[in-house]
Amino acid sequence: MSSTVAGRVYLVGAGPGDPELLTRKAASLLEHADLIVHDDLVTQPILALAGPRTLVVNVGKRCGKKQVTQSAINSMMIDCARKGLSVVRLKSGDPLIFGRAGEEIEALTAAGIKFEIVPGITAGLAAAAAAGISLSDRRRASRVVFATGHLAEDDYDSEYWNGIARHDTTLVIYMPGPDYRTLAAQLIKAGLPRDTPCLVISRASLPGQFEERVKLAALSEIRVHPPALLIIGEVARFDRSATELHHSLTSHSDSEGIRAENL
Ligand SMILES: C[S@@+](CC[C@H](N)C(=O)[O-])C[C@H]1O[C@@H](n2cnc3c(N)ncnc32)[C@H](O)[C@@H]1O
Repeated sequence: MSSTVAGRVYLVGAGPGDPELLTRKAASLLEHADLIVHDDLVTQPILALAGPRTLVVNVGKRCGKKQVTQSAINSMMIDCARKGLSVVRLKSGDPLIFGRAGEEIEALTAAGIKFEIVPGITAGLAAAAAAGISLSDRRRASRVVFATGHLAEDDYDSEYWNGIARHDTTLVIYMPGPDYRTLAAQLIKAGLPRDTPCLVISRASLPGQFEERVKLAALSEIRVHPPALLIIGEVARFDRSATELHHSLTSHSDSEGIRAENL
């Protein structure tokens, strides 16, 4: 089992939330770290793996708490590593996917702090597994694009989807909400047919996991609780037989369920 090295920072992926989807290396680092600095989406069952002497600090940006700036997070990691502590910087999913790891790697490098990266299962892959679909099914898609919908509210992004919104592409859209109407309009404007299949999945791998399938033109009718992401493209077309046979890791008996009547 991996123990930690004093004065080192570990950028660790916590996966989508289910502790059984954590890597063994991540679990071991959580147990042995002096300090865990985590984001809001990291779940309690994962934080419960921290060792008895580990200090756990939430630097998340939700729940109405005062936002901890990226520069304050960088300083905390650097100062603690310099004091000889082993620091786990714990991020949901994979640290290298929409996780601001780039800024942290840059800050650690500039400060001369040794670091390691431990991958995790990113939410897009957990969502695909939960829904039982192959993102790169060669009969339906030749490209998979991980994109953020975060820009959708900004003015300058009217060109953002051009070139990536294509019929042979599976779009996995992180941080899609809450304005699904604008997002759908932009994707249609960029060239996607109005009846392109969309899968919205919230709380992938967690109790309360919820999936809904709709056509792109009806995306604005969807109401889901965050965290949620979208999988858009032919691979998301509803297949009743496969859905009935597929059993996701989070049993549907403890999830809110699946809705597909719109497709
Ligand atoms: C800041 S990004 C972090 C992504 C993370 N690094 C990853 O690799 O999954 C947060 C977004 O990830 C998605 N997300 C994270 N966990 C999720 C989950 N369990 N179910 C659905 N979407 C999730 C949501 O789109 C959420 O807004």
